[in-house]
Formats: sequence, structure tokens, C-alpha cells
Amino acid sequence: MEIAEKIPLLLVDDEEDIRDVLELVLTDLGYAVFTAPNGEVALRIFKEKRPEIVLTDIKMPGMDGVELLRQIKQESPGTEVIMITGHGDTSLAIKSLKHEAIDFIPKPVNDEVLEVALKRAMDKIDMRRQMAEYTRNLEALVREKAEMQDHLTSLGLMIGSISHGVKGQLTRLDAGLYELKTALQKNDPVLMAEGYRIVEGSAGRIKKMVLDILFYSKERDLKMETVRLIDFTRDVASVIESRAAGSDIAFHAACDESAGDAVLDPERIHSALVNILENAVDACAEHTSQKAKRIDFTVSSENGHICFRIQDNGVGMNRETRDNIFNLFFSAKGKKGTGLGLFIANRIIRQHDGTITVDSTPGKGSEFIVRIPKITPNR
Ligand SMILES: Nc1ncnc2c1ncn2[C@@H]1O[C@H](COP(=O)(O)OP(=O)(O)O)[C@@H](O)[C@H]1O
Ligand SMILES: [Mg+2]
Repeated sequence: MEIAEKIPLLLVDDEEDIRDVLELVLTDLGYAVFTAPNGEVALRIFKEKRPEIVLTDIKMPGMDGVELLRQIKQESPGTEVIMITGHGDTSLAIKSLKHEAIDFIPKPVNDEVLEVALKRAMDKIDMRRQMAEYTRNLEALVREKAEMQDHLTSLGLMIGSISHGVKGQLTRLDAGLYELKTALQKNDPVLMAEGYRIVEGSAGRIKKMVLDILFYSKERDLKMETVRLIDFTRDVASVIESRAAGSDIAFHAACDESAGDAVLDPERIHSALVNILENAVDACAEHTSQKAKRIDFTVSSENGHICFRIQDNGVGMNRETRDNIFNLFFSAKGKKGTGLGLFIANRIIRQHDGTITVDSTPGKGSEFIVRIPKITPNR
């Protein structure tokens, strides 16, 4: 039997002659042989060298072979132990079987019998290795499958949620188009304006949903740029102004003169802030009270951070809603919502090492504060 890489083997026998002869034979067979004259020494060597195969005399003074076998198996069930038996060791041999010795070789040791026993041990060790490898592969496969399933589930959820939202908007679009058609037939400019407003609103919503999905589906690195915060604030505000006006909401945007420049991914932060602001518009529009509706968007620079504050006096949130708003697909808006907005906003802000805090009172309104570390532009 040729062995490419030397396999460590421990040989235990109290008779020095037998040890010497067997050590020669085993070394010839290609094993790295350690020897011990008794069970105690054998255990010590075993703990240190961790041989994969142990060949031990069954009857020895002090700790006998069976006790050695028992202790080795207890510590390392994968180690194979071959027992060398003499005349009249039958009861010890039976005990060894119980402790899972792999084979017995009678004294005097015949080389061929020894080789057969060693082969059995090696085969078992190989098989165990293959099983372990197989199990590892299987585990990896199971993990991969679970990940894929998660992915599919979230994809399915997303498609469901989106189609739901788009469907709702399509119904509105139909209604708007019907009104427009009627208005054209009757040549009624008031009805026409009304129809147009409905069509515009639902087209805008559908567009936003699709853009949200596109945004969600693409993982890209941040594209950091230096922006003037005053200009940036104006850009973000301009997206919201008309929507706020359409719902009779007073919208105020302000940026501290001292805020200066900031380094951020403008497209992403823009998208995050618009998502938060749109929710504020929805929250105000939904509020049925008579009070004047108002949204304040303020931008300032505070101890090394840029601070975006979005306050509304809309419907507010209860505790349960508040705890879920950043979850993917969480929406309390039924057909109108996708539950993507704050999930995306939160991700973007985290990518910037920033934080979002939310304070809200049902019936009174909400305040979102986004803070991102201010990186000083190097110029
Ligand atoms: N300013 C706010 N006032 C009240 N509720 C809000 C506000 N912002 C977010 N929410 C709640 O958080 C939920 C999740 O928001 P979002 O992720 O943008 O999804 P969507 O707007 O599609 O519902 C909303 O459905 C709403 O219930
Ligand atoms: Mg939203």
C-alpha cells in the first residue's frame, strides 16, 4: 500500500521487541509511527499528535488496551483503533468490540493480516472524510437555496405590492381619462381641468413607483459630490412644492446661510429626502381637520453633521406604525402606498453613515430628522 502523505499512527505495546519490529514494518508501509510502551504514555502522545490510527496490544500492565481504546474513542470517535490480541484474550476482545475497535490482529502479527486491518481502518477514515465533505456541500446547497428562496419571496412580495399600487393608480387614471373625455365632448373647461388633475396625479404616482423599484433593484456605489447646500435644498424643495400646493399645504423650505458645502451622493440623498417629504404631504393631505396644513423643511449644519429636518402637522403615527415604517413593503396607505419609500431612504442614509430619527404624535404630526456626517470638501 503506497501512501502519498504520511499518515500518523500510534503503536502501543509493552514488549519492546514487538514494538521495534512493527515500527519497521509500519514505517515501510509509509506511516509516520509514534510508539508507546503503555497506555498512559500512549494517551499523552495521542493528545499531542492526534494520530488517525492506533494499533494497540490488548493486554498490558497498568492501563490495558481496552481502557486505552475507550478513552481514545471518547475523545476522538473518528480515530480508528486496531487491537493486537494474544491467546486467551477473548473476553477483552469482546469488550473492545463494544467500544468500537475496528479490527483484531492475532499475535504473532502477520504482515498481510496487518495490512488488511490497516486498509479497513483507512477506508473507514476516507469514507468519513467524504461524508463530512458531502455534508458540508449539502449544507452550502441548503443555505444557497434558502437565500434564493428569500430573494424570490421578496421579489414576489415586491411585484405583488407594486402591481397592487399600480392597479389602484390605473383605476384613477381611467376615471380621469373618462372625465377628460366627457369634458371634451361637453366642452367643459372646469371638468377638463379636474380630469387633467386626476390624470396628472396618478401618472405621477405610477412614475414614482416605477422609479422606486428601479432604485431598489440597482445596487451601486455612492457617487460622492460636493454640493452647495442652499442650491441642493432648493432642488429638493422644487419637487415637493407643486404637490404641496395642490393639496393646500403651506410648504416652507429653508437652508441656513452658514450650512455651506457638503460632500454627498446628491442623487441618492435627493431621493431619500423626497421620499420623506412625500410622506409628509400624504400625511397632511390625509388629515381631515380644519387646521392649516404645513410642512417645514429646514437644512442646517450642526456639530460636524448636516441636519435635514422635515416637520409636518399631518395625521401622525401610532407606536405600531412608527415601529414599522422602515420595513420593506410596510405601508399604511393601502392601494396608494408601496412601502418602498422609507425603506430606500433609510438605506441611503445608512450608506452615508447617517441616521434618521422620527418623532410623531397621532393627530398632531411628525418630525423626521436626517443627520449625515459632514465631510469637508478638500478644496
Ligand atoms: N410624515 C408621516 N406621517 C405619518 N405617517 C407617515 C409619515 N411618514 C411615513 N409614514 C408612515 O410610514 C409608512 C411607510 O412609508 P413609505 O415607506 O414611504 O411607504 P408608502 O409611502 O408607500 O406607504 C406610510 O405608509 C405611513 O403609514
Ligand atoms: Mg412614501
